[in-house]
Amino acid sequence: MSTLLYVEASPRKDRSASIEVAQSFVSTFLEKDAINTVENLDLWNTLLPPFDGDTINAKYRVMHGEDPTPEEIAAWDVITKITDQFKAADHYLFSSPMWNFSIPYKLKHYIDVISQPGLTWSFSPETGYEGLVTGKSATLVLARGGEYSSGPVVAAMDFQRTYLEMILGFIGFKDINTVLIEPTLTDAKDSAIAIAKEEAVKLAGQL
Ligand SMILES: Cc1cc2nc3c(=O)[nH]c(=O)nc-3n(C[C@H](O)[C@H](O)[C@H](O)COP(=O)(O)O)c2cc1C
Repeated sequence: MSTLLYVEASPRKDRSASIEVAQSFVSTFLEKDAINTVENLDLWNTLLPPFDGDTINAKYRVMHGEDPTPEEIAAWDVITKITDQFKAADHYLFSSPMWNFSIPYKLKHYIDVISQPGLTWSFSPETGYEGLVTGKSATLVLARGGEYSSGPVVAAMDFQRTYLEMILGFIGFKDINTVLIEPTLTDAKDSAIAIAKEEAVKLAGQL
């Protein structure tokens, strides 16, 4: 049995290309083994804590090994709970649109909450930065209106794929597969979705 955390970042639901493809991944994962389970984290229906002054102070206290105030402890407890939920899965699936060459703010907010010293990464002067979410796989299903995989000039504008792959690598993921759906704002949308679904089903079948 294994568990999949599915983090969903498009608000467009039944009109979303990234969700449509991600759902074929989820279905294959569930069909593969009757006792597999999926937790769906819909970021548009999840209230995340503001990443505010108390939380940032708590983060720096943790980093510097100092004693936090009661307010900072309370703020850090909320962050720890969400991060523990994140770390509990065996496999991860992220679906996201490209927004302004990057990711929607809801997904960035979630990353800001879970990317924490002592929880998902660590630092020591001797060994540098080390990711703490290890031995797990992540699949990214990324929809974009334009086509960014066609050459170096447009690829340099793609901060969606590069950012997500980098930050997941930073917190410890080594096994990251990315399924692109592009270009969704053209007549090629349906065939792009069909090709991406095949890739997603294949990847889910390999888990
Ligand atoms: C606010 C917003 C910003 C967008 N910015 C970009 C962009 O920078 N580059 C691009 O190629 N497409 C952009 N698009 C188009 C989406 O990436 C495209 O429609 C994609 O299919 C959305 O994914 P979804 O269908 O899963 O929601 C944008 C769409 C929205 C709503």
